[in-house]
Amino acid sequence: MSGYSTSLFLHLVGVVCLFTASLMMHFVGTRLRRAATVQEVRMWLGFARSTQPLFPIGGVLLLLTGLHLAGAGWDFRQPWILVGLVIVIALLPAGPLLLRPRFMAMGMAAGSAEPGPVPAALSSAVMNPFVWKYLSTMTGAAFGLLWIMTQKPAGWLGALVLPIALALVGWLYGASLLRRDSRAVPSGEAAVASAKR
Ligand code: HEM
Repeated sequence: MSGYSTSLFLHLVGVVCLFTASLMMHFVGTRLRRAATVQEVRMWLGFARSTQPLFPIGGVLLLLTGLHLAGAGWDFRQPWILVGLVIVIALLPAGPLLLRPRFMAMGMAAGSAEPGPVPAALSSAVMNPFVWKYLSTMTGAAFGLLWIMTQKPAGWLGALVLPIALALVGWLYGASLLRRDSRAVPSGEAAVASAKR
């Protein structure tokens, strides 16, 4: 087995890590946003915490093996390679910088809440629109990268259109999930009031 095919295999392991993490966060997100009690929120936050390391593992694997594949068999000036490179490099620090503080805010709100119905402060931390729109936008962009990696379009238009279009679809999908889940779950105060009734 050549170094190139080993890198390609590991590149695909990176793809598996990334999409497994995205899918799991999609389901965990739905459960978290629809949780009726503080105990449920804590359980699903624990699940989210154990899923999150898959993102940097997949991202670093994709970047390192992608660099090797591009250097060994392709040309770095290919638009599909540059688009993949720029998007992955831009997204790698986004997890620790943008998502981690928001998940920590959810964890702190869940940790300080009394067991029982989800209070308003915890509900607003969990329903943070940035977190869920960002995650589905990134999943859309990753599907776009999957497309350009397999099709290897020669021009810039072909390399950019689908990652951007699918990122936009992801953002709209994330917004629609938030609307759906905020209708499905009573707000914190309403939940407390209905629990007292
Ligand atoms: C979310 C990010 C990425 C995804 C989903 C992804 C996905 C894939 C897939 C599925 C293949 C196999 C295509 C085939 O065999 O026809 C592939 C190949 C390749 N990828 Fe990526 N990739 C990503 C990031 C990157 C990055 C950042 C680079 C460059 C630094 C890169 C460079 C390459 C190269 C050069 C190949 C060609 C291998 C070949 O076909 O022989 N990829 N990628």
